[in-house]
Order: sequence, then C-alpha cells, then structure tokens
Amino acid sequence: MNVLVVGGGVIGLSIARELRLAGVTHITVLDRSTSGREASWAAAGMLAPNAEAEHADDFYRFCAASNNIYPDFVRELADETGINIDYRKCGTIEVALSEDDAARLSAKFERQKLKGFSVEALEAGDMLRLEPYIAPNALAGIHYPDDGYIDNRQLVEALRVHLRQSGVEIIENCSVESVCLDGDRVVGAIAGGRTFDADITILATGAWSSLIKIGVRPLPFSVKPIKGQMVSFADPLLDLRKVIIAPGAYLTPRADGRILVGATVEDVGFDNAMSPTPIENLSEAARHVLPVLERHEISDAWCGFRPFAEDGLPIIGEIAGYTDLFIATAHFRNGILLAPLTAKIIAAKILSDVESPFLRAFRPQRFLKGSGMENV
Ligand code: GLY
Repeated sequence: MNVLVVGGGVIGLSIARELRLAGVTHITVLDRSTSGREASWAAAGMLAPNAEAEHADDFYRFCAASNNIYPDFVRELADETGINIDYRKCGTIEVALSEDDAARLSAKFERQKLKGFSVEALEAGDMLRLEPYIAPNALAGIHYPDDGYIDNRQLVEALRVHLRQSGVEIIENCSVESVCLDGDRVVGAIAGGRTFDADITILATGAWSSLIKIGVRPLPFSVKPIKGQMVSFADPLLDLRKVIIAPGAYLTPRADGRILVGATVEDVGFDNAMSPTPIENLSEAARHVLPVLERHEISDAWCGFRPFAEDGLPIIGEIAGYTDLFIATAHFRNGILLAPLTAKIIAAKILSDVESPFLRAFRPQRFLKGSGMENV
C-alpha cells in the first residue's frame, strides 16, 4: 500500500508513524513549508481535556481518551528515537483572582464534578502549597490532576526523526493544490505541477485545509485559520510545577525554566503580524497570576493558526462520495492533545476498517445535511 499524507504537522506525522508501525512500507508526507513548523510549533503544548471542557460529550471523551494514551505515546516515541521529550502529567490549576472569578470557578467546579470530570476544588492555602509561584492574593482555584503539558516542539522533532529513521519520506516546500481523481477514486495529489500517486491519500492540512481541491471542487466544508499570539518568559531557576489558567492567559512551563503564555483567539485570516496590545495584555495577565514574572522581560513572541471548522469540532474520517480519501483536521485548540488518538483511529480505519465511535462523532458528512449524504 502506498500512502500519501498531505500535511506534516503533528496530526499528519502521528498518522504516518501509526501506519508505519502497523507495517505500511510506502508512506510519503508532503508539507507546504517545513514540517512541524506551523500550529504544531506555535502551540503551548497544554494537555487540558478537563480544564477546558464544559460538557461530558463526545469531544470531552475524545480529549480524555487521547490524554490517557499520551504516556505510552511519549514513552514509545522516546524509545524509538532516543529523544527525551519534556512531558508531564503535572496537573493544571485554574486560578481565581477576584470574587467574580471565584464565583465562576465554584459554579464550574460543581458542574464538572457532577459530570464526573477529574477535578478538585482548592482553597487559597492548598493552591499555594501546590504551586508556590501563584500570587498570594489569589482567592481559590480548581485543580485538574490529570491534565498537563508536552513540549510540542520536541514532540514534532521526535516524530520527524522517527519517520525518517523508518524510511518515511518527508518532502518539504511542497504545496498540494488538489487531490487527483480517477472517477470517484482519489489516486494521489498534485503539488507544483508534480503528481504524487497513492493508493490512500490523507489530508492532515490543518488551517490550510480549505485551500485543497478534490479534482476541481472545493472540500464540502470549510476550515479557517484562527490566529493565536503567544509570548514566553525565560528563567532557568523558575521551576513552575503546574500549568496555570488565569483570567486573560494560560501559562505552560518547560523543564528549562521557560514559561509560555497564550493566547489570543483572532479571526483574521493568515495575517501573521504580531501586535503590541495583545502581547502587553498577555504578559500583564501572566504577571498578575505569577508576580515573579514582574522581574522578567518577555523573551520571545510568536503566533500560529489553529484550524477551525464551522462547529468548532475536529473533522476526521472519509469524505463521502470519494474512495481512498481520508481527512483529519480542524482540531482547533487541541491538535497536540488529540494527535495520538486521531492517528490510531485513522490508521485502524484504513488498515482494518475499524469504526471508532469518534469517527462517527466527527465525520465530515455532518456538514452535508440536506445533500442525502449525511448518513453515508
Ligand atoms: N490550546 C490552547 C490554545 O489553542 O490556545
């Protein structure tokens, strides 16, 4: 079987790895620029299925299930490559700095506890014992012990190393314009006038998905970029233990003492300009919750583009009306978290026709209402 993965971000790389481990010998990954250097690089690497969820729905279950397989995913990748990946299931604390925040968090805690989320209410003293860097005037918090973070840049580097060592070809600066059709069958893709033949084509094209055509037609749904600007601070002596969510910012530690602070959520197309006000707001919010950052200047600032579908949910599976074409995109705020399970369910579908309930939940056909194809 000859597989073409269009898109070399964390989703495409993880799918290629899963297929390779399952014995697929001919896999090519095409990336429009440098593989792993777009949203997968820009992310903070938060793994927050519980902290960011409001409902015990399919999306929550998908996030929680992917979080559960993360330890094995990282350990196996480290064994495969010898690369030590900074991954910690260290817990996340959401912090209330005002009476209003405290009331909101208390209501959120009650809702989440009722739904069986992994969640603990924290009084101020307990919170400061868990994370001494939090501002002493913080009022209360919620602890999510099963959440954590991964250094997403190390993760994509390890995936790239693993794939190259296992004979997967990663072709960069190769921008796919369309997939090629033979009747309803997708038989590869065209990039820069060059045709790449394939038995199976997988689009893992993130925020750029809507630029790809199937033959001469657009995809039957749209995915748009949602920009996130981020900043970081660096202090090798700063040993933040927890991921922190605070009003106006989240803060993710790194083993080397960096703290990544994110992120804006901007619907501005592919405009990658950095703007002073959001950067100022993010750093101010970070300094409110971690006063130690007042002694530090911002060490870096960057942005990336999250892939967003109309309903905010991932799009994963076969595209109705075509054979041998799969898509895995629109992971929006959770691409890093959802990569391992997305890869497993796509690989299981391609290789053994296994229908994960998550394929049903996030199938592309949900956008085809009224076309007669929504139940295909
Ligand atoms: N996962 C956090 C964000 O997308 O900003």
